[in-house]
Amino acid sequence: MGDENSIQTVTLSTDSALIVAFGNGKSIRFEDCWLRDHCRCSSCYHASTFQRAHHILAIPDVTISSYEFDKKKIDIKWSDDHKSTYTAEFLSQFDFNTWKESRKLKPILWKGASIESKIATIPVNDFLTTKDGTTCVFQSLLDYGVALITGVEATSEATEEVCKALGGVQHTIFGGMWEFTTRADHADTAYTNLPLAVHNDNTYFTEAAGLQILHCLKHAQGTGGETLLVDGFFGAQELKREHPEDFEFLTKFNLEAEYIEEGHHHTYSAPVIKLDSETQELVQIRFNVYDRAAMAFKSSEECRSYYRSLRNLAKYYEDKGNQWQFKLKPGTVMAMDNFRVLHGRTEFSGHRVLCGSYVSRSDWLDKARSLGLIQ
Ligand SMILES: [Fe+2]
Ligand SMILES: [Zn+2]
Repeated sequence: MGDENSIQTVTLSTDSALIVAFGNGKSIRFEDCWLRDHCRCSSCYHASTFQRAHHILAIPDVTISSYEFDKKKIDIKWSDDHKSTYTAEFLSQFDFNTWKESRKLKPILWKGASIESKIATIPVNDFLTTKDGTTCVFQSLLDYGVALITGVEATSEATEEVCKALGGVQHTIFGGMWEFTTRADHADTAYTNLPLAVHNDNTYFTEAAGLQILHCLKHAQGTGGETLLVDGFFGAQELKREHPEDFEFLTKFNLEAEYIEEGHHHTYSAPVIKLDSETQELVQIRFNVYDRAAMAFKSSEECRSYYRSLRNLAKYYEDKGNQWQFKLKPGTVMAMDNFRVLHGRTEFSGHRVLCGSYVSRSDWLDKARSLGLIQ
């Protein structure tokens, strides 16, 4: 432990908190209820499962009777005779600003085809079998919201192996691993050969898929069908700069989206641009012009703001200069962050077969966290 996190002084305040000054000059205040709840002794905390052993209602109403400290730890004796020890290393993590900052994702915003040379393009064996390869792919997803995995056999089974390593196949009404072609097994526009404007998937789910995985298995006797990607976060940031009132509207207005097919009816209402309520950082883009539900508005102003702000955001996303357009070929699996990156495709002819799946956000972030890439 460096001197930075060593304990310098500890003071008990008149209102029952310990104020701990650390070597780095920071001083952190710990309420007595917090301290008792965070007791790390074996009867209060299971060190093997990282779970608390007591219900919150079981925290006794006690006070600090006495305490002792040295550079490395604080020992507390409670009014019910329970004893707790807290290491300096443990306590020093709870400076609110540092703690909050350590939990922020730090996306690197991008525009247009410039992204191509920056994202991870990793051979499948490296991704599946080496820590460096796996780390590279997840870092690219965190930074840019896109990663490519190459040399994958052009089958649904080989693609599934990649999906599993990205966090696991998420089951939805579209299945687990899906294959799509122009066959109409679902009513969705994706199952046609028409151009698809850039969008996020599942805006009508209470939680949209985290990653979308796409693999073009075959495209014969035809042209077109190029993939379009655009950074949804960059678009939101540009909207904030150029039309702050539209940005504001889209972060507050609950837009209802829906999906209806035989036996299914999903709807979900939420802002198009979701911000962290505390830090105001961008959390999710829910942009899909096709899946907007028919809505009633409380005022003419709200209705007109809806059209104006969505169109201004759409102009950014539809601008060719902001999009990366490329042809996905058999062998290359694309993974993209559906909370951030919008995808679309150009019109096509011929016989085109795509397969892929979704991965839930919780599951892919779990992988990234296990690799030590995020907190
Ligand atoms: Fe889509
Ligand atoms: Zn305890």
